[in-house]
Amino acid sequence: MSTQLHDFIRGLPKAELHLHIEGSLEPELMFALAQKNGVQLPYASVEEVRAAYDFADLQSFLDLYYAGAAVLQTEQDFFDLTHAYIERALADNVRHVELFFDPQTHTARGIHITTVFSGIARALREARAKNGFSGAMILCFLRHLSEEDAIATLEAALPLRDEYADLWTGVGLDSAEVGNPPEKFAHVFTIAQAMGFRLVAHAGEEGPPAYIHSALDVLQVERIDHGVRAEEDPALMARLQQSRMPLTVCPLSNLKLCVVKDMREHNLARMLRTGLCVTINSDDPAYFGGYMNANYIATADALELGKEELVQLARNAFEASFVSDEQKQLWLDELEAYAQQH
Ligand code: HPA
Ligand code: ZN
Repeated sequence: MSTQLHDFIRGLPKAELHLHIEGSLEPELMFALAQKNGVQLPYASVEEVRAAYDFADLQSFLDLYYAGAAVLQTEQDFFDLTHAYIERALADNVRHVELFFDPQTHTARGIHITTVFSGIARALREARAKNGFSGAMILCFLRHLSEEDAIATLEAALPLRDEYADLWTGVGLDSAEVGNPPEKFAHVFTIAQAMGFRLVAHAGEEGPPAYIHSALDVLQVERIDHGVRAEEDPALMARLQQSRMPLTVCPLSNLKLCVVKDMREHNLARMLRTGLCVTINSDDPAYFGGYMNANYIATADALELGKEELVQLARNAFEASFVSDEQKQLWLDELEAYAQQH
């Protein structure tokens, strides 16, 4: 593919709506934090860690992802993690991120939930002040755990709501999908919705289209994370198209977790061309081989996306973000000006 199109992608203003901050932990930082905190890792070197990133499915990834997250212990660790992600995002012309974080992964190890909030928020606020970088935080519940555990996590976080009101906008649902349908979390989502939180959930990554239906109908989410298995259900595809329900698709993730065998088989372009509100995101970039530009470039190359389609993907993400209409318009204007100039 032409390097001209790659340059166009690199310069495109972007928003990232599907990024697990724990999934941005690069092996180098993992090693440094393990040494500092006296955590034993089952790897001898950074190269060995990277070599272990050969996944057969979601669960084989999650096992390493949760093990890696154990090196995160102090407020500064969560700051360093988030700061490193923001540097990569800025380099990729990402203007805005709505990042996921998994408090249960940390509180289960005895880390206080305040430590997690504080470190992530400090990095986001610093980047806002220094670089005009915009960020928000979406607290995710781990779906392999019980709904009682999710409710307890929300209750533990609520005393922090005012202090983090500028950042903590929503709740989501992640981890092992199959066997843990959205219905399992109906109550906690009802509570979160009544409190005014924005709602998202992973659905249709490995799970069936029925999970996308129940994320919409039972949890009443406003975006579907992944959603690629929607294509198996024509009625659902029509529903997603008519409602312009955003899908936060993660192409390199889908490839690494064997959701697709070959990028050329990815349905992102088909869904986009059918009029669905598809977006491109990096999911767990340290584990899946690339940040935002790498995801855009791999997708554009494999699916022969044109400039108009790339602009539409970026536009979809700004439109699907949980910011004010005024802020959206500023980014959309910037995007249109970029598209005109190039
Ligand atoms: N799916 C589900 N849970 C996750 C993922 C994912 O892609 N990444 C981090 N937690
Ligand atoms: Zn994800």
